[in-house]
Amino acid sequence: MQNSDSGERISEAGFDLDQVDRLLTTTRAVRKRLDFDRWVSDDLIFECIDLAEQAPTGGNDASRRWIVIRDQELKDQLGELYAEVGTIFINARGRLDGTGHPKEHIVSSSAYLVENYAKAPALVMLAIWGIHDDSGRPGLFDSAIPSAWSFNLALRSRGLGTAYATMLNNKSEEVAELLGMPPGLTTLVCFPVAYTKGTDFSAAPRRPASEITYFDQWGFTRQRPSDDGTARVADGQGVVAEIDTDARPRAVWDVITDISMPAQFSEEFLGAEWTSEGDPGVGSTFRGRNSIPDVFDWETDCIVTAWEERTAFEWRVTDTENPGAVWRFDLAEQGGGSRLRFSMLIGQENNGTVPMALRDPAKEQRVLNRRRDVLRANMQRVVEGVKAIVDGD
Ligand SMILES: Cc1cc2nc3c(=O)[nH]c(=O)nc-3n(C[C@H](O)[C@H](O)[C@H](O)COP(=O)(O)O)c2cc1C
Repeated sequence: MQNSDSGERISEAGFDLDQVDRLLTTTRAVRKRLDFDRWVSDDLIFECIDLAEQAPTGGNDASRRWIVIRDQELKDQLGELYAEVGTIFINARGRLDGTGHPKEHIVSSSAYLVENYAKAPALVMLAIWGIHDDSGRPGLFDSAIPSAWSFNLALRSRGLGTAYATMLNNKSEEVAELLGMPPGLTTLVCFPVAYTKGTDFSAAPRRPASEITYFDQWGFTRQRPSDDGTARVADGQGVVAEIDTDARPRAVWDVITDISMPAQFSEEFLGAEWTSEGDPGVGSTFRGRNSIPDVFDWETDCIVTAWEERTAFEWRVTDTENPGAVWRFDLAEQGGGSRLRFSMLIGQENNGTVPMALRDPAKEQRVLNRRRDVLRANMQRVVEGVKAIVDGD
């Protein structure tokens, strides 16, 4: 990458990265800021579809078809169908408005679209020849999704916006009837297309790549990029195990904050006792007992470094500044239940793994990964055990 005279970041491929990144990070689902009073020309829609058609297709076949709905009567009928599916959003808005619930904003925005869908100057539907048959072959609707997103990006670059509206997929027979579509097609999305009111949109909060990217093995994280691609102590090696539960975060929280609970499922962790007084919270301490049978028994002094009810419980081993390990449970609502994420980070010192890993640089990755194999297996048992407790499986 080089910086141009005017300070732009120009990539090796000649792209202005500030502009490219702005497009990729600020193409939002737009609903309340769609300008229904401003006309969108066919010309612009053709242009955006031509750009979107550059997206990949399985087998390089040309099976995508676009239907632009301009006729107000048809838009109204599609709007009614959309609203039939979307009543869940209208009802949920009634419950969530003013509560500060994390989904309040998206529900209110989605409900607004349900009520105003037919006002868009154009509804643009993407369909593809073929019916998904679970055959695993590419080329059916998997081939439509990349171009659907390119269409979003093309709109955004030209001052227009939309939301990736899929609810009409639940009314595919009625839609086919209204639009005169023959059998053998799958519809994927029907975009309400309009200019946006203003063009300033922000990047959305998303998990950083380092938390959701695994290297070589499922669940093996790397805090920082590695110089040579191999796992090195210095880059912060971690492990993640996740599970979805039917139970709500409240029930899961009570289980994961029982510090001896993992002993029921882990083959290494034997139990723990609080060593501080009072209700647990940040700064509380406990001692954990561990054993690798016939090899090694050891105890760890742990300090709680995050305690957010129903959201996060983190503790550090030995020393908060130079922890031997950082262990953490994260909880989030997922569907009607919860997603539990159990993660750990191998510290730079104060543990048994690092001296072994650093003894021979040629074996550093192997030592780290062998240790992580064991940790992952135990952590997986723990999250499955938590699920069994809270869901009663
Ligand atoms: C597969 C898929 C289906 C979606 N269906 C709808 C929909 O039917 N109605 C709607 O208003 N938004 C829909 N969305 C948009 C999401 O709600 C939106 O992307 C999400 O809230 C995140 O907002 P952002 O894209 O601005 O980051 C859908 C998105 C995807 C990827």
